[in-house]
Amino acid sequence: DLQSNTDSPTFAIESYACQRRTPLKHHNASLTEALELLAQNAEFTDNEGRSVAFRRAAAVLKTLPRAVRRLDDLKGLPCLGEHSLRVIKEILEDGVSSEVESTRQSEQYKAMKVLTGIFGVGTKTAERWFREGIRSLADLKTRGGRLNREQQAGLDYYDDLNRPVSKAEAHAIGQIVGEAVRAVLPGAEITLTGGFRRGKEVGHDVDFLITHPEEGKEEGLMPKIVSWLETKGLLLYQKTTRNSYLESKDGPVRPSHNMDRFERCFSIFKLKRTPEVCGTSNQSAGQNDVTEGSDVRQQEVQSEPSDWRAVRVDLVVSPYSQFAFALLGWTGSKLFERELRRWAGQEKSMSLSSHVLYDRAQNRYLRASSEEEIFALLGLEYIPPSQRNA
Ligand code: GTP
Ligand code: MN
Ligand code: MN
Repeated sequence: DLQSNTDSPTFAIESYACQRRTPLKHHNASLTEALELLAQNAEFTDNEGRSVAFRRAAAVLKTLPRAVRRLDDLKGLPCLGEHSLRVIKEILEDGVSSEVESTRQSEQYKAMKVLTGIFGVGTKTAERWFREGIRSLADLKTRGGRLNREQQAGLDYYDDLNRPVSKAEAHAIGQIVGEAVRAVLPGAEITLTGGFRRGKEVGHDVDFLITHPEEGKEEGLMPKIVSWLETKGLLLYQKTTRNSYLESKDGPVRPSHNMDRFERCFSIFKLKRTPEVCGTSNQSAGQNDVTEGSDVRQQEVQSEPSDWRAVRVDLVVSPYSQFAFALLGWTGSKLFERELRRWAGQEKSMSLSSHVLYDRAQNRYLRASSEEEIFALLGLEYIPPSQRNA
C-alpha cells in the first residue's frame, strides 16, 4: 500500500485549481487545515499574496488520491512553495507545526478570528479595533458606539451566525425564498448556489440565484421579494443593493475584476425551528453572551432558548442572459473562482466576471447559456460543482 516511493508522480497535477477536480472530502485534512490557518492569518495581517500561496498549496493537497506520508510524495507537484513545504515537513515529522500552533495561540490571530467572525466586520475594521486594544466581543461592547447597522446585527446574532447552517436548514430557507419569489413574480426560477451546490453538508450562509426566462422581468424583483419576506416577519436584517451593471450609457461595462453589480441582498433570516429543520439534535449554543446586555434593541435581540434561529442568506438576481456566468461565479469555491479568472486572464487573454466573458484579443463578448459552455470557451475541461471545492 505504501508504493509512493517512486521517482515520478503517478499522474500529473495541473497548476490552476480550475483545471483540476477537487472533491469536498479528501485525504489530507490535517495538512490543509494547517496551511489554511496560515492563509487566514496572512489575510489578517494584510498579506494577500502569501495568503493565496498557502491556499493554492492546500488546494493541491486536496486533489491527491491518498494521504501524504513523506515529503517524497510531493515530488513534481505544483504550487508548493518553500514555506508550505517546510510546514508540511514539520507536520509529517512531528505531528504538528510549531509555526501553525504558535499562530493559533497568538493574541492577534485569536482576536481577529473573533472580530472578523462578526457579520459586517472585515479584516480592515477588525485590524483597526485590534490596534485600539479590542480583543473580544466584550471589549467591543464596553467600548461602545460607532457600529453600523450591519455590524450591530452581526453582534446581536453572533452565536447563531457562527453556528453552521445545516442542509435541512438550507432546504427550509429555500422553501421560503421559493414561496416569496413565486408570489411576487410567477415563472421566476431560483437556484441554490454557494457551498451547498458543491455538496457541502454545512455552510456559513445559504446562497440563492434568482432569474426569469423572459429577460427584463427580473428587473426590480429584489425589493418585492424583500418586502414580501418582511411583511411575514421573516427577516431580521437586510441590505439590498440595486443592479448597477446596465447603468452605464455605453452599454455593459467591461469587467475589470470580480466586481459584481447584480441586484442583491445580504440578509439575516429568522428561521423557525421545526422538527424537520432541527432533526433530533436541537442543541442550542448555551448562553448567548453577546446579547444579554440591556440595550434598546432588547426586543429584537435573541434570548435563548428560542424557537427560531438567525441564518445568513445571500440573494442575487440575474438577467437570464447572464445566468450561466452568475451561476458559475456564485457557486465557488472562492479559490476556484479566483483561479478561473486568473486562467482566463493569463492563459486566454480573457476577462471573466459573474456577468460576462470578454475576449481581449478578439475585442468582443463571448455568449454562453450554460456553465459547460463557459468552461469550453475557456478551453477547460468541465468541472462539476462537487469538484470545485478548491
Ligand atoms: P460557506 O458559505 O462558507 O459555506 O461557503 P461558500 O462557498 O458558499 O462561500 P460564500 O457564501 O462566501 O460565497 C459563495 C460564492 O459566492 C463564492 O464563490 C464567492 O466567490 C461568491 N461571492 C461571494 N460574495 C461575492 C460578491 O460580492 N461578488 C461576487 N461576484 N461573488 C461573490
Ligand atoms: Mn455560502
Ligand atoms: Mn454567501
